[in-house]
Amino acid sequence: MKIIEVNDYQEMSKQAADYISNRVRKLPSLTLGLSTGGTPLGLYKNLIEDYKENHTSYQKVKTFNLDEYVGLAQTNPNSYRYYMNDIFFNHINIDKSKTNIPRGDVDDVEREALDYEQLIERSGGVDIQILGIGSNGHIGFNEPGTSFDSKTHIVELATSTREANARFFNNLEEVPTRAITMGIATIMKSKEILLLISGESKKEALANLMFGEIHEGFPASILRNHPAVTVIVDKAAIAESKVH
Ligand code: F6R
Repeated sequence: MKIIEVNDYQEMSKQAADYISNRVRKLPSLTLGLSTGGTPLGLYKNLIEDYKENHTSYQKVKTFNLDEYVGLAQTNPNSYRYYMNDIFFNHINIDKSKTNIPRGDVDDVEREALDYEQLIERSGGVDIQILGIGSNGHIGFNEPGTSFDSKTHIVELATSTREANARFFNNLEEVPTRAITMGIATIMKSKEILLLISGESKKEALANLMFGEIHEGFPASILRNHPAVTVIVDKAAIAESKVH
């Protein structure tokens, strides 16, 4: 893993955006793996600014999002489809038909999971996967205990994850209990991974990622076995962790 240490969230977001926009300019038909949540908001904002200033084109870019809540319609402001359109896709020249997010609002979500995995494979796989990390080590919505061999699947969300995400909803009860997510094996197949870690609440996760054992109880630990992972981490996440 290559670790890039930055001062704060702003710098992390800017560096991540430079990394991605440079790659898109080099390979305009890049396939990007995208994530949601709080961490990549600044990255998307910087990418939009770059698009406006430097006209980086996303016309040929294809995207696959990591995950989606089960049971939320695409028009629900808390669905990840809504988030992606609102926060990023609506502001750049991407062809929406090339943007893929698992559907959490279909009758047969198990089927949707199988189809999504195949779609990624048939399209040639993800070139760069952007990841955040949960404080319990989850990546995508793969909670502790998920098999390292898992492909896209349906998961029960951990209480800690629902509590962490309740800030986006009116109350905890509204947070869905299930999600559809790329599996650990799906994520590990991407050619390159860019992991963003910011803030004090991720201190322990960072320390576990760097120094803990590689085991299914801490899903992100598997990333140490991936040949091309870059981690951009800010000072708040490093402070007092055992990184130094
Ligand atoms: C989001 C995702 C999750 C988040 C993680 C961190 O698509 O898959 O793994 O990256 O829960 O969330 P934030 O960034 O809100 O701390």
